[in-house]
Amino acid sequence: MRPEPAYRIPFSGRAHRYTAEEVALVARVMQEADPLTQGRHLGEFQEAFSAYIGVPHCFATMNATCALELAAQLCELKPGDEVIVPAHTFTSSAYPFAKQGARLVWADSDPGTRVVTAQMIADKLSPRTKVVVVVHLYGFAAEMPEIMDLARRRHLLVVEDVAQALGAEVGGRKAGTFGDLGVFSFHSHKNVTTLGEGGMLVVRDPAQAALVPLLRHNGHCAFTQERPHYWTPAMGNLDLPRPGLWPSNYCLGEVESALGVALLARIDQMNAEKRGRACRFIDALADFPELVFHRVESTRHTYHLLAAYMDESARPGLRDAFMERMAFDKLIKCVVQYYPLYRYPLYIKNGFGQADCPGADDFFDHMVSFPFQHWLSDEDLAYMLASTREVLEGLR
Ligand SMILES: Cc1ncc(COP(=O)(O)O)c(C=O)c1O
Repeated sequence: MRPEPAYRIPFSGRAHRYTAEEVALVARVMQEADPLTQGRHLGEFQEAFSAYIGVPHCFATMNATCALELAAQLCELKPGDEVIVPAHTFTSSAYPFAKQGARLVWADSDPGTRVVTAQMIADKLSPRTKVVVVVHLYGFAAEMPEIMDLARRRHLLVVEDVAQALGAEVGGRKAGTFGDLGVFSFHSHKNVTTLGEGGMLVVRDPAQAALVPLLRHNGHCAFTQERPHYWTPAMGNLDLPRPGLWPSNYCLGEVESALGVALLARIDQMNAEKRGRACRFIDALADFPELVFHRVESTRHTYHLLAAYMDESARPGLRDAFMERMAFDKLIKCVVQYYPLYRYPLYIKNGFGQADCPGADDFFDHMVSFPFQHWLSDEDLAYMLASTREVLEGLR
């Protein structure tokens, strides 16, 4: 393999820069917080998040994968239960459910929107289907009203994976608030990041919500009986309502939580900036129909990523030729993302290597994801646009 060059525009591992106020806040909480975990900032972040998305029960976690592990536990899966998951997604949308004993059933993705539809879920239903995972991939919110209608009719639980779509809305309602459980990420790549790792679990059912603090923090809870001293019979209790339900330690630290509150104040602005840039970039390439984007001007899309489908019908091999010239001639790193999960050895070895997902296969085999971190300068974007045009023209 040809070694990669020193890129002028990398596919960055971090999404955005921090403001001077955010840096000062982090430094202050670093020095002052006591404790550095399980303190007031965690509660404040959860409250701010709850106010932002408009539902009550929100729990900050170390990352979205931890939130998905908790969500999978809350689904109370039994061996043989089936969980429908889109094949074209990040791996942790899926494996937490397999770890709870479920059989994964892969759903396809719509070629236009690149996310799962109600019809694609309906195509995979069986009498054993218990849960549907809907992933708002690339930042675009799937058709939740239709999916929820289907789920309610078939008595299915719905987990929304909103890792890439914080702030996306369908009909004025935030993605992550339609389903029974919603999961968000503040990983380094995401539209806002709490220092590289962070997540949030949103729970609709108050009874399930009451379990989350225990599941998230080692089963720690208060004694219910009157006690003569705070140290007897022990400082605190450990309990969960049924045998076989085991806890973890998935709490988000205080510094990250305090930063999360500050970032929520500007997520809408950052999303709007990314959306505006994405639409301008797409429009400026309208005379290159071989590069097919998903253009959405509304808050339904956060443009976490800027992905396109390369129509290779007139010139087989165009996608790879384009990526190569962008990388080596223009020093711009485009990538290919979300290898359909059933192609990975991890899933094949565990019996999940079978799928009928022509849309996911076709999209993955032709896709190009442009570097689209929020911190790109206008100059970088203009250079990426001019380079894209030049490379495509050269390949015609
Ligand atoms: C769709 C999707 N789900 C889940 C995750 C997991 O997020 P985290 O890195 O916060 O665990 C990611 C992150 O890359 C993701 O893109």
